Amino acid sequence: MAKILLVNGSPNEHGCTATALEEMAATFEKNGVETETLWLGKKAVADCIACFACSKGNGCVFKDCVNEVAEKIDGYDGFVFGSPVYYGGPTGRLTSFMDRLFFSVPNEKFSGKLAASVVSCRRGGATSAFQRLNQFYLMENMIVAGSQYWNQVHGFTPDDIRKDEEGLQTVRTLAQNMVWLLQSKKAGEEKGVLPPQYEKKTFTNFIR
Ligand SMILES: Cc1cc2nc3c(=O)[nH]c(=O)nc-3n(C[C@H](O)[C@H](O)[C@H](O)COP(=O)(O)O)c2cc1C
Repeated sequence: MAKILLVNGSPNEHGCTATALEEMAATFEKNGVETETLWLGKKAVADCIACFACSKGNGCVFKDCVNEVAEKIDGYDGFVFGSPVYYGGPTGRLTSFMDRLFFSVPNEKFSGKLAASVVSCRRGGATSAFQRLNQFYLMENMIVAGSQYWNQVHGFTPDDIRKDEEGLQTVRTLAQNMVWLLQSKKAGEEKGVLPPQYEKKTFTNFIR
């Protein structure tokens, strides 16, 4: 059974972001896709210190939730990263987590897997936060799922989110699209459709 990891980057375990992610989890489960939810908690998540120790293949030097997810990465077919909007961006907690996860896990572990972002805001700044999160997937050869609108819900409390009918419909549609992509991938694999055979990766710095 396919499995999706939902990461809640809010300090509120049962807040607005969680409400949107729960709506998605219910849609996944209804369609036979397993979910696991990870709440990043209230404490700061260490930021990347650019030590490059992870390039030796032993994970991040900070032994926390990043390494715990990294160790289980093969078991996930897709990811949803959710965040409240803080001054037009995602939380520092979530971007620190994602910086270290995406930097320390080999690219091919994300390649071809599904990814999506969900943001929750009271009033504004949703699209810049949403775009910021999407930057991670778009350089990892991931399949980024969309919906009928940008994946945002609006509110200050979970009750507000429950009243945001369009927002909740948007995240349900997003989950449905992800289910369909998973099913399409599986059908393709069964028919012998091969994943892209990439060239050896090249790095060109902006040098003279
Ligand atoms: C530090 C901080 C900054 C915020 N910045 C914004 C913002 O830029 N735009 C906005 O609409 N709401 C902003 N909010 C409100 C939250 O994004 C909003 O209430 C969100 O739905 C809370 O989600 P949560 O319950 O999952 O934490 C901010 C809240 C905090 C604590």
